[in-house]
Amino acid sequence: MEPIKVLLVGIGGYAANYVREMKLRGEANGAVLAGVVDPYADKSPRYEEARSMTDVFCNTVEEFYENHTADLAAICTPIPLHAPQAICCMKHGTHVLLEKPIAGTVADAQRIIDARDRTGMNLAIGFQWCSDPAMYAFRRDVQAGVFGALKSMRALVLWPRDTAYYHRGSGWAGKKYDKNGNPIFDSVASNATAHYLFNMLWVSGCELTDIQAVTARANPIETYDTIVLRGKLGDADLTYAATHAGGNATLQNPMFEYEFEKGKVTYGGYHQSGGELIFRYHDGTVRSYGISFTDSGKKRMHKLWDFADTLRGGGRIACQAEEAMLHTRVMEGVRAVCPEAHVFGENEILNTNNMYWVPGLSEQLIRCYETRSLPEFAES
Ligand SMILES: NC(=O)c1ccc[n+]([C@@H]2O[C@H](COP(=O)([O-])OP(=O)(O)OC[C@H]3O[C@@H](n4cnc5c(N)ncnc54)[C@H](O)[C@@H]3O)[C@@H](O)[C@H]2O)c1
Repeated sequence: MEPIKVLLVGIGGYAANYVREMKLRGEANGAVLAGVVDPYADKSPRYEEARSMTDVFCNTVEEFYENHTADLAAICTPIPLHAPQAICCMKHGTHVLLEKPIAGTVADAQRIIDARDRTGMNLAIGFQWCSDPAMYAFRRDVQAGVFGALKSMRALVLWPRDTAYYHRGSGWAGKKYDKNGNPIFDSVASNATAHYLFNMLWVSGCELTDIQAVTARANPIETYDTIVLRGKLGDADLTYAATHAGGNATLQNPMFEYEFEKGKVTYGGYHQSGGELIFRYHDGTVRSYGISFTDSGKKRMHKLWDFADTLRGGGRIACQAEEAMLHTRVMEGVRAVCPEAHVFGENEILNTNNMYWVPGLSEQLIRCYETRSLPEFAES
């Protein structure tokens, strides 16, 4: 069988994982690196590894297609580039695995979906929990009604991020628009902790309605580094609390709890690492779906090989663009109810080791998670 020719668009930042994956498991998965598009490729910690696999390095996708072709493009670039690059690749007959979030706006996401439908290419979005066998099996049972009606879902993520995080790459993090006016809307809920919000939408298969949200920032960014969100998934309640500004507390592990008529599933918890997905029935019996591989860094790029299998006719698209759109619509809903974030006062913010944080904020978000409520931030 002919190897799948892979184009990597972006090889620094998170995309360095794609280079490593191609190097470690490309051959075993019948894939070869057809080329790299990244104007700053030599800044990537995996540049030499990429060079050892290809000598095709281009600054733009258009330049790549002047002399080359690819079967699959893994696009892992700043958010405003997602739509133009994905559309260009699909127009040139390349199937696209596009990193999450699909786009900064519903309009851009729709343009990508329209291009997919026009070109007949396959398109997958890089929310890796969707390629996780444990999570996939759990979601199938949820949607088959095995646990009865969904009653509530809640997730809490307290992940500190320092100023280097906000200044990385071309400086798009935490911005609303790029210098050309293209939408970014990068925030704690659209980027690092998006998986925990998206998972609730993807598992329930529901659109979030009745959106209520409080957003805030301690970092000098345009969007927000803290959010508490409430809403309805059908008749069920959703609560999501996430911050990058809660400090280096000991309670950093993400956690969630989804409640159903017949019991509940929990993941992660205070002072413990996540991992096992366990459904506990009210009668005391338990069902484990196993360890979620998102806790094992090694297996993170299964989404690439899942997608390659799909192209060979073997697999399913783990995360469809329409599913990823559930998240993009929530992001727009949050902007509609909270056009501007609350700004913490200078007297409330500490800077420790180049990290802005607000003492007490983590505890406040834990309370919101526990009581399914929105916080009240005092005007400063
Ligand atoms: N799935 C996950 O868990 C996960 C984790 C982190 C980031 N991401 C996503 O990956 C994407 C990139 O995020 P990041 O944090 O790695 O960003 P980054 O800014 O750190 O890296 C972006 C990469 O794109 C390259 N790039 C910049 N302009 C380019 C251009 N015009 N053409 C081609 N390449 C270009 C940069 O040189 C860099 O290699 C985002 O969509 C982000 O949400 C996903």
